[in-house]
Amino acid sequence: MSEPLIDEDIRKARTLPSAWYTELEHFKQLQSVFSGWQFAAHQSEFGANNVLPIEHYEAITGESVVLVKNEVTACYSNVCTHRGMRVALEACAAKTLQCRYHGRTFNLDGTLRHMPEFAEAIDFPTASDNLAAFSLKQWMGMHFTALDDSAELPWKEVEDRLGFLNAEAYTHDPARDRDHPIDANWMLYVDNYLEGFHIPYVHPELNQALDYGAYATEAFDGGVLQIGKAMEGDVKFDLPEDHPDAGEDIAAYYLWLFPNMMFNFYPWGLSLNIVVPVSPTQTRVLYRGYVANAELASQGAGSLLDTVEDQDQWVIELVQRGMASSAYDRGRYSPSKEQGVHHFHRMLAKIFDEKQ
Ligand code: FES
Ligand SMILES: [Fe+2]
Repeated sequence: MSEPLIDEDIRKARTLPSAWYTELEHFKQLQSVFSGWQFAAHQSEFGANNVLPIEHYEAITGESVVLVKNEVTACYSNVCTHRGMRVALEACAAKTLQCRYHGRTFNLDGTLRHMPEFAEAIDFPTASDNLAAFSLKQWMGMHFTALDDSAELPWKEVEDRLGFLNAEAYTHDPARDRDHPIDANWMLYVDNYLEGFHIPYVHPELNQALDYGAYATEAFDGGVLQIGKAMEGDVKFDLPEDHPDAGEDIAAYYLWLFPNMMFNFYPWGLSLNIVVPVSPTQTRVLYRGYVANAELASQGAGSLLDTVEDQDQWVIELVQRGMASSAYDRGRYSPSKEQGVHHFHRMLAKIFDEKQ
């Protein structure tokens, strides 16, 4: 067997080759990682509607889908089975789904209900005239969908830590939504997210709000959890007595789920980042905000989001340019501070090693 690309031993390992961040071939090769579970929407995003097209999912996977809340909530292809028009154009409250091109109508369970001018069609309708269904899972009030649902997200691992949050009751606050274009590869955004090592250097304001020395990183199959400890007297979580971190002052739980989802839980609620790959050197980062307690949002580590984001983007865009340098190919990891980045690179390299 040949050497793995990323050594299992972080003390010896070298980082991903820079070509992974710059070349179209690698970008395409990694596209398959987005076919697993992806965040679709928090249940509060329905509001009074029962039909909710998920635009960011199409940006990530190329698949146009719509969530439909009926007796249960389901995920369907948003492509009309007649000639391929988009079925739902915006969130709405509706009893049926009607295509705006030639009037084909679907029931809320995705089955064909009516099609004008098809009385003479032979062998019509069949099952292929219904909207295709995609897998859908609900976790803490959030819906996830997948093209390939064979690999589970690490629900159980994070349940112990985050189950107490009652995220089902959060409400989407559109005023917190952002769409940031970044001139960098999507993996650089993830790499940067997965270490708190840079906080004292890149984020002086955040560094004041977090106890950097007590910052902890836990890696598990399918994700990484980083735990930010509060400074004395700062806003922190009210943890139940049987919680694994009971007695500690926690300011933030930063959960990353492979490959591109970041759930930042603060006492005020959840700030979610969805990383959308655009090209080898371009990425969009979508922010969504879900509020538990609006009064707490201007205090502590969770109040500095826009400042921190600008600082991260500044550094990531410069790193992207570094990836194109003929003098740089691979670096090394800090064994004490970059376990999360090492874990992520190992997950990516495993896909590559398996193809060799
Ligand atoms: S494409 Fe939808 S009715 Fe024709
Ligand atoms: Fe950062």
